[in-house]
Amino acid sequence: MKPSLEQEARKLQKELTDHSHRYHVMDDPIISDGEYDRLLARLVEIETRYPELSVADSPTKRVGAPPLAAFESAAHSIPMLSLDNAFGDEDVKAFHERNIKNLDFDKIFYTAEPKLDGVAVELTYENGMLTRATTRGDGFMGEVITENVRTIPSVPLRLQKTQAGVPELLEVRGEIIITHKDFERLNKTRLEKGEAVFANPRNAAAGSLRQLDSRITATRPLRIFVYGVGQVVGMAFETQAGMLAALKNFGFPVNEHIQTHISLKEVLDFYRRLAEIRSNLDYEIDGMVIKVDRLDLQQALGEKIKSPRWAIAYKFAAVQATTLIQDIIVQVGRTGTLTPVAILEPVNVGGVMVSRATLHNADEIRRKDIRVGDTALVVRAGDVIPKVVKIIESARKGNERPFEMPDTCPVCNSRVRRVEDEAAVKCINIACRAQLTERIKHFVSKKGFDMDGLGKKIVDQLVNEGLLSSFADLFTLDRQRLSELDRQAEKSAANLIAAIEGSKQISFSRFIFALGIDHTGENAARLLARQFETLDALMGADKQQLENIHGMGETTAAAVVRFFENQENRTILQQILAAGVMIHNDLFAKKIDATHPLSGKTLVLTGTLETLTRNDAKKHLEALGAKVTSSVSARTDFLVAGRDAGSKLKKAQDLGVVILDEAQLIGILHD
Ligand code: IVH
Repeated sequence: MKPSLEQEARKLQKELTDHSHRYHVMDDPIISDGEYDRLLARLVEIETRYPELSVADSPTKRVGAPPLAAFESAAHSIPMLSLDNAFGDEDVKAFHERNIKNLDFDKIFYTAEPKLDGVAVELTYENGMLTRATTRGDGFMGEVITENVRTIPSVPLRLQKTQAGVPELLEVRGEIIITHKDFERLNKTRLEKGEAVFANPRNAAAGSLRQLDSRITATRPLRIFVYGVGQVVGMAFETQAGMLAALKNFGFPVNEHIQTHISLKEVLDFYRRLAEIRSNLDYEIDGMVIKVDRLDLQQALGEKIKSPRWAIAYKFAAVQATTLIQDIIVQVGRTGTLTPVAILEPVNVGGVMVSRATLHNADEIRRKDIRVGDTALVVRAGDVIPKVVKIIESARKGNERPFEMPDTCPVCNSRVRRVEDEAAVKCINIACRAQLTERIKHFVSKKGFDMDGLGKKIVDQLVNEGLLSSFADLFTLDRQRLSELDRQAEKSAANLIAAIEGSKQISFSRFIFALGIDHTGENAARLLARQFETLDALMGADKQQLENIHGMGETTAAAVVRFFENQENRTILQQILAAGVMIHNDLFAKKIDATHPLSGKTLVLTGTLETLTRNDAKKHLEALGAKVTSSVSARTDFLVAGRDAGSKLKKAQDLGVVILDEAQLIGILHD
């Protein structure tokens, strides 16, 4: 290799990194897109020919890497907390007063930042190089999505050198977003390709980051804004403002609408200004985050279990509008649940056209007395599906029609059943086409068998033509029949068969997820794969064994048992395996975080908890690999006693079980 080639590669790597930073971070490009592409193509050519000239932070590394089998999870060295909400100026004033009282100091200044509505991530830089990226997860544990984050052009792969040098370790936190403009374009292309459109930019960002194949992520228009740090070694910041300035110097995009070192009054003024410019911004913000500026004061104020005392989110009021309910239709989901949906006269709610809103169930409709022909108040908050809050009674003319939940399934006409203790009405005909179609869509979806090209339309078509009557039929579809289907060209039939063939090697957790067992999503599927090595082992498990799994609830355990008891399900599973599906299980016996003092321990929670809800405490504990049970026995390691703890406390004392109060529990959770 000519030495000049090495020089050329280094020069291109540096120049392309600078141009990309100018374009994606500073919004100030100095060369055309075409010129950039030409330089990049040249660098790709050199690096392909001489791979030894490539480096970890080369701009060519942003195209994605070969797919992963599953995401690993990792603990955050410092928990990624959430924020308490303020809904009015009084709440912000109370926050300020509390800070003054707690600090015994009244010269407190704040930084106020837009609250970006995207996906929170943490980026780890070791000696200046991006080495890991994780999702926020439950705040304690997140998923490792390094390869995906590497593809985002505004994320520096290497920190820019500053006068202060580069810290040994820097964990940067920020929000990954998609702009409205990019979102529209993305959905337009998806629509053209017959793919499902995303509901909103945040879902699109989250979905794009959850791809096991980072080459797909690379095609999505993701961006980042950073707003904080986790652990930092080898550098210290004094204020939030100083930290943001340093992050900017390292090459990160920091939002431009940030006010630093401002008084309470200025904070409140800035909130109104931000609310005004909100609709002009090309990205979604759902409020403002107010942070005590001095980091030593932040530290002195400290944290509660879920949120810091030094920051608060001042939310914008949910966007709402009134419109006409033209009709109420009933949809049948994968598990047979009938969901009433309001068909609305299309209305613009905070910049988004809304034409449907879920009505949840018949009880909800009765409670709110929603009728066809009513004028309704509709809200849209964040990523939530639009909701009918209430109807405007004064707008009634008298010709509105009350809604009756049908006695029969709108798809298969069989009688529906009301589930005991639940508001849901279900179609229990397992042969119902609506369920079958939905179940198959779930089975072939990205997180399941991931059969590329088997989109909604084709599944509908295959079910309607009678070519699919169970999951197992997917594996025996023949090319001849497929290519005879309308619009189904021979080439795409071949592609489909190849995708189905390619999906036959599958991880156990995806396999379980794909089955669409009630209450069994990705998490439960992973828990099951951790516990049972093979499908046979899982099928042989009884309810008690399932309930004993850390993190597995009773409802899920019961649903799993019910699923495998069903003879028809067993037959379908046999057929799937006979068709050559091979399940592999790398999760088996993989521990969550065996180093935490509560990992593997059994706890009972009793009495009233003040800071945490019981459910949250349970979730945190289970994320650490602890088990929460309801009755005290000799096998209980700890009893957490809240206010007014009664007989369980007594029993634990009798048995000599270690007793913790809530503060102690929180202390250990933070360890
Ligand atoms: S600070 C402990 N700053 O809001 C401090 N968060 O409810 C928490 N978010 O998960 C983070 N914009 O995803 C902070 N400027 C901003 C933010 C922001 C959006 C999100 C973030 C976090 C959530 C907390």
